[in-house]
Amino acid sequence: MDLHLTPDVAAFQAVLARLSSEDWARIDSASQTAAAKAAEAAPHWDFEMPAKAVDAVLGAGVSDEVRRGLIASWALQLPDRVAAMALPAEVLALYPYWIEQLAAFLTKAEGDYVFDHWAKDVRFTLGLSVPAAKSQVIDLSSPVGPGQIIKHVRDGWGFGPLFRYLAAGAKREPWLEVHTESRWLRGFNEDGWNEAWATAAELCRTRPELAGMIGSSWFYDPPLTEISPRLAHLRLNPLKGGAFMVHQGPGEIHTERAGTASASRKALIDSGDYTARSWLMVWPRKELIAWADSRKMGEAG
Ligand SMILES: CC(C)(COP(=O)(O)OP(=O)(O)OC[C@H]1O[C@@H](n2cnc3c(N)ncnc32)[C@H](O)[C@@H]1OP(=O)(O)O)[C@@H](O)C(=O)NCCC(=O)NCCS
Repeated sequence: MDLHLTPDVAAFQAVLARLSSEDWARIDSASQTAAAKAAEAAPHWDFEMPAKAVDAVLGAGVSDEVRRGLIASWALQLPDRVAAMALPAEVLALYPYWIEQLAAFLTKAEGDYVFDHWAKDVRFTLGLSVPAAKSQVIDLSSPVGPGQIIKHVRDGWGFGPLFRYLAAGAKREPWLEVHTESRWLRGFNEDGWNEAWATAAELCRTRPELAGMIGSSWFYDPPLTEISPRLAHLRLNPLKGGAFMVHQGPGEIHTERAGTASASRKALIDSGDYTARSWLMVWPRKELIAWADSRKMGEAG
């Protein structure tokens, strides 16, 4: 299958050419075991687990140059991996853009490899996560245990999600999980998110074992409809399409992320007028596919 990798091969090879022979040897000896350990770790709820598993194989004191080299070498193998994955056309069409972004990132990169980027690149180059749209990536296997739903009910947020969870087939696994790619944000807008949901629906269509799609973020928090209306679509569109929301609660990471880009939200947080809370967005496969079908009909009409 042609992923149009050709223009970027030289960029990945150049990243490898920067390495010393010792670093080359380290990558060569770790590559296969690291890939296998990462794949084993991928269904864990923590999307960073594959990267942590790779670090354990690489061993203490590994440099970020070696990490980048490993990613470049896995990127060169990506067409073969993807060919074996039977992905829908909507996902395949996104690969040239994503590979180009990754090649540009690795070419320019020096100094620290931010852990979130490393974690995403491990998953992407090993085919554990696939592109969903220009700024969204989808993990192919995530769990949704009953614990969070029970906590939502126990904490007084209502019974709704419990019934929806049971109706979606409580024991059914795995779920897709969407993440934002903060390095290339040009698709972080309503159209971009609709594309991401639609890609997830196509994956569900081709993989009957999938229970649906989830996302976890501060940006699903209901007060944002008032205080950051440009983000309201993130919660309202999935809800209109049959998703349900499970309260996860406040936390330092959510406060930090919610305050990163918006001065007005940061001011509300600092004054104590707003507390950022994370929510789990759960979109069961039946409703997600129905939403995608009606979107297609809308586009055709
Ligand atoms: C998630 C994120 C990318 C959303 O960014 P965004 O679409 O620009 O939306 P934000 O509400 O955060 O907007 C940031 C600010 O830029 C302004 N802005 C954004 N787009 C604009 C545009 N096109 N024109 C003018 N101003 C704009 C907004 O007005 C806002 O400032 P304000 O709220 O004080 O008015 C951003 O908040 C972010 O990078 N957060 C940290 C990382 C993160 O949380 N990632 C998701 C993990 S779950």
